[in-house]
Amino acid sequence: MKDFKGRTAVITGGASGIGFALARRLGQEGANVVIGDVEVAALQRAAEQLDNAGIAVEAVTTDVTDRAQIVALADAAEARFGAIHFLHNNAGVATSGMAEELSDHQWDWVMDVNLRAVIWGCREFLPRMKAHGRPAHILNTASMAGMSGGPFMAPYFTSKFAVVGLSESLWHEAQATGSNVGISVLCPAFVRTGIARSDRNQPEGMGGWVAAGSQVGARFGEFLSAGVDGGIEPSEVADTILAAVKRDKLWILTHADSVESITRRANAIVGDGIPPEVRRMGQ
Ligand SMILES: NC(=O)c1ccc[n+]([C@@H]2O[C@H](COP(=O)([O-])OP(=O)(O)OC[C@H]3O[C@@H](n4cnc5c(N)ncnc54)[C@H](O)[C@@H]3O)[C@@H](O)[C@H]2O)c1
Repeated sequence: MKDFKGRTAVITGGASGIGFALARRLGQEGANVVIGDVEVAALQRAAEQLDNAGIAVEAVTTDVTDRAQIVALADAAEARFGAIHFLHNNAGVATSGMAEELSDHQWDWVMDVNLRAVIWGCREFLPRMKAHGRPAHILNTASMAGMSGGPFMAPYFTSKFAVVGLSESLWHEAQATGSNVGISVLCPAFVRTGIARSDRNQPEGMGGWVAAGSQVGARFGEFLSAGVDGGIEPSEVADTILAAVKRDKLWILTHADSVESITRRANAIVGDGIPPEVRRMGQ
């Protein structure tokens, strides 16, 4: 997809961070923007900022863990702007702790927001995009956590690897069928956003984003927060996304050192079969 002028772009988790930055960037390209988010006050603030910047925006309160609300998001976008040309499945959350320490509830929360909602988003929006037949694109946000495994965020790594797999499968289906819908998967390393405060959007009674009583989880949570705070700006990621989508890239990386990390992993897989670095974060 090369031209965003007058096109409709829908972004989940568009009230902050990477999603909000992309909403602004696509708006600057002339797109009509629809942002869906579960955090109502932040969503309203984001819509006001976009509106003040002269961007045509619709804000739709959306909890992506409820399939009906994803359908309602698509319906609202079509009602306001007509055909949908771009979808960014971006909403995401994280937890910290050992796989067995995290509760079932915490596991389900991450899998529902980071993976199930992305599956639902693709399945709901693809038919609508194919029906109008014009150039369209779906961007799924994974992470470098979907390219290389690591400790203390097992639900996050699991969900993000799956989003990479889903996106690759959709890309091949699009190629095999000559689809008008391009597919990309975004794999950022640290970006300065609110992701390390994911529990602000947690359902009642889950007890935060760190596994209850987990010392390793607490220490790794601090490491993660510091990494995110020292990350690149979301606006830089938005520029990278736009350039990559225009080139129809499947995999989108955002950091130069991601190349080395992916190469090391691939070499280890075909080499001695042992991960190249043993991380002892938090131990
Ligand atoms: N920040 C990073 O370092 C980093 C690195 C790799 C990948 N990512 C991914 O980028 C994506 C965007 O996150 P971000 O870093 O901009 O963080 P962020 O917290 O600033 O943005 C995430 C947005 O998702 C929304 N959200 C959370 N749960 C939701 C739900 N159930 N329904 C609808 N919206 C919901 C939040 O309200 C928030 O606006 C996520 O998928 C995240 O996993 C982030």
